[in-house]
Amino acid sequence: MHFISENLDDYVVKHSENEPELLQQLTRETYQKILQPRMLSGHYQGRILSLISKLVNPKNILEIGTYTGYSALCLAEGMQKEGELHTLDVNEELFDFQRKYFDKSEYGPQIFQHLGDALEIIPKLDKTFDLIFIDADKENYPNYFNLIIDKLNVGGIILSDNVLWSGKVLDPLKPDDKSTKAVLDYNTLIKEDPRIETVLLPIRDGLTISRKL
Ligand SMILES: C[S@@+](CC[C@H](N)C(=O)[O-])C[C@H]1O[C@@H](n2cnc3c(N)ncnc32)[C@H](O)[C@@H]1O
Repeated sequence: MHFISENLDDYVVKHSENEPELLQQLTRETYQKILQPRMLSGHYQGRILSLISKLVNPKNILEIGTYTGYSALCLAEGMQKEGELHTLDVNEELFDFQRKYFDKSEYGPQIFQHLGDALEIIPKLDKTFDLIFIDADKENYPNYFNLIIDKLNVGGIILSDNVLWSGKVLDPLKPDDKSTKAVLDYNTLIKEDPRIETVLLPIRDGLTISRKL
C-alpha cells in the first residue's frame, strides 16, 4: 500500500540506495514461483531495514515472518560479524527457497531458520536480541510483543510492519475483522507500554519503530 502519489514515490525510491543485485534476483524468483509475492518487503522498505540495522549494529536479530528471506537479508547487512539472525516462518514450502538465498549471501552461516508457529518457537529461543522485526500474521502481533519484550535488550529496537493495515485503522471496525482489530490493539499497546518508546512511521504500509528503555 502506498499512501503518497506514484510520482512522488518514484522520486523517493530514485533518491534512496539502489537495491543489491542478490535481492533483485530474489524478488524476480519470488514473483515467478511463490504465491503472494507482494508480501516481500521490496526495494525501498528493504533499504530502510538495512539502514536501521546498520545504525543499531545488532549482535542478535530476530525476525517473525521470513517469507522468501528478503527482509532477513536486509537486516543481516547491519549485523555484527559474530552476530546471529534467527528467522521464523510457519510455511515449510518456503524453507529451501530461503536457504538458497541466505547461502548465496555473505551472511549464510549467521542466519538460522526456525520452521513452525512463532508462538511456539519464541518461548524456546534461549537468546536475547538487539533488533526484532515483526512481520507475520497480524492477529498475533500483541501476542508476539508480549513474548519478545523480555528477550529484547535495553536500547534494543522492535520494528513492526503493516501497522497502518492499508489504511483500515481509520475505518469503522467490522465485527469479523480480527486482523484490523489486532493491529488497532497492537498500535495502542506499544504506544502505551512504559517499557518502550515508540514512533509510527508512515512508510509504505506503516512501520513502527520502538526502543526499549
Ligand atoms: C508478510 S510475510 C513476511 C515478509 C518478509 N518479512 C519480507 O519482508 O520479505 C509473512 C510471513 O509470516 C508467516 N507466518 C504467518 N503466520 C505465522 C506464524 N504463526 N508463525 C510463523 N510464521 C508465520 C507467513 O508464512 C509469511 O511467510
